[in-house]
Amino acid sequence: MRRAGLAFIRMRERIEKQIEQRTAMLSGVSHDLRTVLTRFRLQLAILGDDEEIKSLDQDVKDMQSMLEGYLAFTKGEAEEDFGSIDLNALVAKLEKDGKLLGKDVTSSVSGISQADVRPSAFTRLINNLFSNACRYGNKVKITVRSDAAWLVFTVEDDGPGIPEASREDVFRPFFRLDEARNQDEQGTGLGLSIAQDIARSHGGDITLSDSELGGLKAAVRVPA
Ligand SMILES: Nc1ncnc2c1ncn2[C@@H]1O[C@H](COP(=O)(O)OP(=O)(O)O)[C@@H](O)[C@H]1O
Ligand SMILES: [Mg+2]
Repeated sequence: MRRAGLAFIRMRERIEKQIEQRTAMLSGVSHDLRTVLTRFRLQLAILGDDEEIKSLDQDVKDMQSMLEGYLAFTKGEAEEDFGSIDLNALVAKLEKDGKLLGKDVTSSVSGISQADVRPSAFTRLINNLFSNACRYGNKVKITVRSDAAWLVFTVEDDGPGIPEASREDVFRPFFRLDEARNQDEQGTGLGLSIAQDIARSHGGDITLSDSELGGLKAAVRVPA
């Protein structure tokens, strides 16, 4: 039994190491390509603004934003230390950002006001949900509740929502629901997978459902 246990632990360590190496590689490649692409765009800018050059420039821009997505994805894997964040401040910042975009944002925070999480990862997680809500809806509602065991952070909007059959798929990396809906070329379909990764690395998860506002309701649950 003991030998089997040890073998299992070693196997786990090998797998972890392999994932670490791949993550480091993805991050390295993204960094390197980002530098080259920046140079590329500078050179395109010098060439002028023909239609063809403009469309090349757009492609390069898209590649840049994909690389930003990969980098955020690999950062999510890195071990950040737990620390305390102020939930009221986080929500106030979101409200401000939403209002700058001309969105009607309401919020309520009850229960604990400090959360023990990985601060920048958790902020990225909430930001990803919130920016989706602002992209697809005009009204956005943020609710933060907590009890002794769980902190629940929900973001709702009045947009088109996500049909029940696709609610698992949207968490897959690079999955985007409806190409026609996504003409605005922002995003890479990584937002929700990064968000889910972060929630799970906290020992929690994200669930999607229908909002009373008419759109999507995304609820993040992490241990309080
Ligand atoms: N609040 C929302 N309302 C409607 N559809 C959404 C919402 N959030 C996400 N989606 C759908 O899920 C897809 C995946 O979202 P995400 O992973 O954040 O990628 P991205 O925002 O880069 O497209 C989006 O392309 C969109 O089709
Ligand atoms: Mg998104």
